[in-house]
Amino acid sequence: MSVARSAFVLSFASRALGQYGPGGRYGPADSNGDGSSAFNGGGSSSPNNGGFGSDSRLLGGNTVLIAHGVLASLAFVILFPMGSIFIRLASFKSAWLFHGLFQIFAFLVYMAAFALGVWMTQQAPAQANLIGRYHPIVGIVLFAVLFIQPVLGLIHHFRYKQVGRRTFWSYGHLWLGRLLIPLGMINGGLGLLLATETGYGRPTTGQVIAYGVVAGIMSLLWLAATIIGERRRTKAHKVQVEVYKRQYA
Ligand code: HEM
Ligand code: HEM
Repeated sequence: MSVARSAFVLSFASRALGQYGPGGRYGPADSNGDGSSAFNGGGSSSPNNGGFGSDSRLLGGNTVLIAHGVLASLAFVILFPMGSIFIRLASFKSAWLFHGLFQIFAFLVYMAAFALGVWMTQQAPAQANLIGRYHPIVGIVLFAVLFIQPVLGLIHHFRYKQVGRRTFWSYGHLWLGRLLIPLGMINGGLGLLLATETGYGRPTTGQVIAYGVVAGIMSLLWLAATIIGERRRTKAHKVQVEVYKRQYA
C-alpha cells in the first residue's frame, strides 16, 4: 500500500473511531456514562460533538444523500400522488394504462432512491446501525409491499372488464395505494429527522417546512380528486340504474 493510501486509511479509521467509538455520536456512552451520544438515546445532536456531520465522505458524499432524498421525495410526494389524482379525474379510454405506466415509472424512481439509501446505510460502520432506524425500515417495507400494487392493478383491470364493477382486487389496489403513498410521505419526514439527528446533511428549517408544505398540498389535491372522482362514479351508477329500471319497467 502506498504511503499516501495508508495515511488516508489511518485518518479515516481514526475519524470513524472518534465518531463511532465510545463517547462518539454513534458509539456507546462515553466513559463518564453521561449518555451524550446521539444514538444511545443520549440527546445532544450538535454537529460538533463527534458525529459525522462535518465529514460527508462517511455516507458517500453529499451528492448521494441529496440524490436519495430528492428522488425518494419526488416519487412519494409528487409522482405517486399525481398518478393517483390522474386516474380519479381522467375519463379517456386508455387512462388506466397511462396510470399504470406512470406509477411504474414512479416506482422506478423510488428504486433508484432505495438503492442509494441502502448503499448509504452500508457506508456507516456497523455500530451506527443506520439500517435499524425507523426511516430505513419503513422504506424497506414500502419497497417490498409496492411490488404487489402493479399485480393488483392489472388483476383489477381485467376483472373489471369481465364483471363491470369493482372486485376484491380493486379495493385491495385502491386502499393499499392510499395507505402506502401517505406512509412514504411520512417516511420522508422521518428521513429529514434522521439527518437532523445524525448531523450529516442536516436539513435547514426552511427545507423541512418546504417538504411539509408540498406534501400537505399534494395530499389535499389528491383527497379532493378522490372525492370528486368517487362522486362522479356514484352519479354515473345511479343514472345506469335509472335507465335499467325504465327499460325493464
Ligand atoms: C406501483 C404501482 C401503482 C400504484 C402505487 C398505484 C396506486 C393507485 C392508487 C392510489 C389508486 C387510487 C386513487 C384514488 O382513488 O385515491 C389507483 C387506482 C387505479 N389503478 Fe393503480 N397504482 C399502481 C399501478 C397500477 C397498474 C400497473 C395498473 C393497471 C395496469 C393500475 C390500475 C389502476 C386502476 C384501473 C385504478 C382505478 C380503480 C378504480 O377506480 O376502481 N394501477 N392506483
Ligand atoms: C419512502 C421512502 C423514502 C423517502 C421518502 C426518503 C427520504 C429521505 C430524505 C428526505 C432524507 C434526508 C435527506 C437530506 O437531509 O438531505 C433521507 C435520508 C436518509 N435516508 Fe431515506 N428515504 C426513503 C427510504 C429510505 C430507505 C429505504 C433507506 C435505506 C434502506 C434510506 C436511508 C436513508 C439514510 C441512510 C439517510 C441519511 C441519514 C443521515 O443523514 O444520517 N431511506 N431519506
